[in-house]
Amino acid sequence: MAIKISVLKENKSGEKRVAVIPLVASKILLLGASLALEAGAGEAATFPDSAYKDVDIIADLKDLIADADIILAVEPPSIEIIKLMKVGTILISFIYGTNSPELLAALQSYKITTFAMEQIPRISRAQTMDALSSQAALAGYYAPLLGAVHIPRILPMMTTAVGSLRAAKVLVMGLGVAGLSALATAKRLGAITEGYDVRPETKEQAQSLGAKFVDTGIDARSEGGYARELTTDEKIEVQKVLSQHIANADMIITTAAVPGKPAPKLISAEQVTLMKSGSVIVDLGAEGGGNCEGTKSGEIVKIGPTTIIGPLNIASALAQHASELYSKNIFNFLELILKDGVLNLDFEDEIIKDTTLTHAGEIKNKAVYEKIKTPTA
Ligand code: NAI
Repeated sequence: MAIKISVLKENKSGEKRVAVIPLVASKILLLGASLALEAGAGEAATFPDSAYKDVDIIADLKDLIADADIILAVEPPSIEIIKLMKVGTILISFIYGTNSPELLAALQSYKITTFAMEQIPRISRAQTMDALSSQAALAGYYAPLLGAVHIPRILPMMTTAVGSLRAAKVLVMGLGVAGLSALATAKRLGAITEGYDVRPETKEQAQSLGAKFVDTGIDARSEGGYARELTTDEKIEVQKVLSQHIANADMIITTAAVPGKPAPKLISAEQVTLMKSGSVIVDLGAEGGGNCEGTKSGEIVKIGPTTIIGPLNIASALAQHASELYSKNIFNFLELILKDGVLNLDFEDEIIKDTTLTHAGEIKNKAVYEKIKTPTA
């Protein structure tokens, strides 16, 4: 019998993405699997059931899940859904296990083999599966657009019959995937752009996108290409250099993150009060508590001269393209574990090994296991 793959309809409030778009559904069928889709799963992302050719559309969750070998989703499924899965089912989705010990316990007790999309390693061979990057690139693109509709001025220089308007200054803090994408969009919109990060290699990357790099002299490179937390002295040093750049900006986009830690605070309440009248901060760190003092996750607040936007799940606002990229990431991962329609789980393969969160009742990811064992770590 062919491997049965089922795609869930997302049920988290505000989540419009779908794990498989029709184009990718056809490619999955060519892997020799059969495919079922929860009725209406693609609708919010603009893909009606009728667009999925040769895919079973199933309304009843039990029918969809009970005999599935592989379940695909974007967000972590609820515990109720896990309970409908047969023992040994493979689940592929974002999980963020440390956020939900109860979910992890359910995945262990139902012996689900969970591949967590946020754990795809950042190595060249896995680039086509890297869902964190694909979604972050879209979020970064969207941030300057979001900011642009909240400032009372335009971004490009404009020459008019009554004189010229000066281009806006956009400062992007945190130059990972989202930050570089934000710099590129802000430049395309005509702004004068500056970028800042604690990883020195981002200088050249920012400059290649036509931006100036704000050099604070700090090098906080850490394992796996990520940044480490700054020391108190480093934070003071950075604040000194950045204050003037913050005060001069019309728009600031923050995207800074340190794995496993709350979002680092890059802009203090005092620095906000010294910003230009009508300025805006788009805080993409909002999901992790915010990079700016005063950010409220999921809200838009006005503090002194500045509007602070704390958007959540931007990728969902771009659900059509976000789903397209995510489902291609999923497909590339499926190609790794399905050979000629037969499951081939090689746990020695670096990508499979790193992405395995739970298997046969155990938590396989060391970092998640340690965090769950000692919740304050
Ligand atoms: P992220 O979301 O973990 O962090 C965003 C940015 O915030 C990073 O550039 C980080 O250096 C910066 N940051 C952290 N603390 C900061 C502070 N106090 N002040 C200013 N900036 C701060 O980053 P993302 O986008 O997940 O990328 C992480 C790394 O992985 C990067 O080196 C990126 O180039 C690399 N990467 C490699 C890939 C590959 O080889 N396949 C694919 C994607 C990313």
